[in-house]
Amino acid sequence: MAIILGIETSCDETAAAVVNNRYILSNVVASQVLAHQPYGGVVPEVASRCHSETINLVIEEALVKSQLSWAEISGIGVTCAPGLVGSLLIGLMAAKTLALVHQKPLIGVHHLEGHIYASYLANPGLEPPFLCLLVSGGHTSLIYVHGCGQYEILGQTRDDAAGEAFDKVARLLNLGYPGGPAIDRVAKMGNPRAFDLPEGNVSTPEGTIHPYDTSFSGLKTAMARLITKLQQDQNSLPTADLAASFQATVARALSKRILHAVEQRGIKRVVIGGGVAANSELRRQLTILGQEQGLELTFPPLSLCTDNAAMIAAAAAAHFGCDRVSTVGLGSQSRLALTDVNLLYL
Ligand code: KG4
Ligand code: ZN
Repeated sequence: MAIILGIETSCDETAAAVVNNRYILSNVVASQVLAHQPYGGVVPEVASRCHSETINLVIEEALVKSQLSWAEISGIGVTCAPGLVGSLLIGLMAAKTLALVHQKPLIGVHHLEGHIYASYLANPGLEPPFLCLLVSGGHTSLIYVHGCGQYEILGQTRDDAAGEAFDKVARLLNLGYPGGPAIDRVAKMGNPRAFDLPEGNVSTPEGTIHPYDTSFSGLKTAMARLITKLQQDQNSLPTADLAASFQATVARALSKRILHAVEQRGIKRVVIGGGVAANSELRRQLTILGQEQGLELTFPPLSLCTDNAAMIAAAAAAHFGCDRVSTVGLGSQSRLALTDVNLLYL
């Protein structure tokens, strides 16, 4: 049994949590969204300052809510890559200090592996192999999960991540930041078939379409052109129809890639993770696909789709259970391939 204190500071949420393997004992998130809102996106220096101001309080609250003492904590899991280096460092320094003071093992966690582990928290009976669609502000990846630390990347984005596309299109539509939830909200009043948009296919050198990779920058450009044209032709913009059509196109592009993987690999279990997994249209389309294909689908609740430390603690608990821990020399890295996670351990 591993009871892990998890710490997450890779981007704009300061988070700490305590989990007992796949069960959450406490999960505290201090969002920085209001601090970044005036700038329309995450400002790295602002993020680091907010993390350093709140990290101790957040960790304290997570421990108090877990109703456990330090003696009952088996180890400390912390996101060390990828992310904003200044932000990662705040969480890493806190984790290292606590590991030294309380004589606990330190377990570095890859942020994306954390997003995969959110599904184990949502569905503790889940077992690999399964397919994970990871769609966040910085990533769009289709991952075949063979086991803890064993990941095969089937496809990823060639340019903008899905969440990045949502945030940029929301800015074009004057919907504010963060863009994903705003588009999702407005789209409920729109017609998803109002506009025909490119699905972001990627060509291979052989001239065929890549079955798993995505490219959302073309879709974003198509939206920008369409918005300019509509503004010239008419006085008011059909914002709800534009948002609904954009969202449905992204969801369709992602669903098609999952269907291909299901057909090619005989996959029966599919999970989604990352902030864009909160999207209602993506969930709707995947639910239909799941029914048609007889899939076991896991959609984590919204609180586990966006950045949190419970998912980091769950990933750390799994590595700890396989005797994989990090040294106090663990560093933070802005980039690290998911296939290299095992480099974080002894
Ligand atoms: O995973 P996450 O919290 O942070 C990282 O990027 O790691 O994802 C944040 C992204 C943002 O781009 C945000 O706009 C998007 O998730 N997002 C959504 C929704 N909620 C959050 N995108 C579409 N629909 C939503 N309901
Ligand atoms: Zn994330």
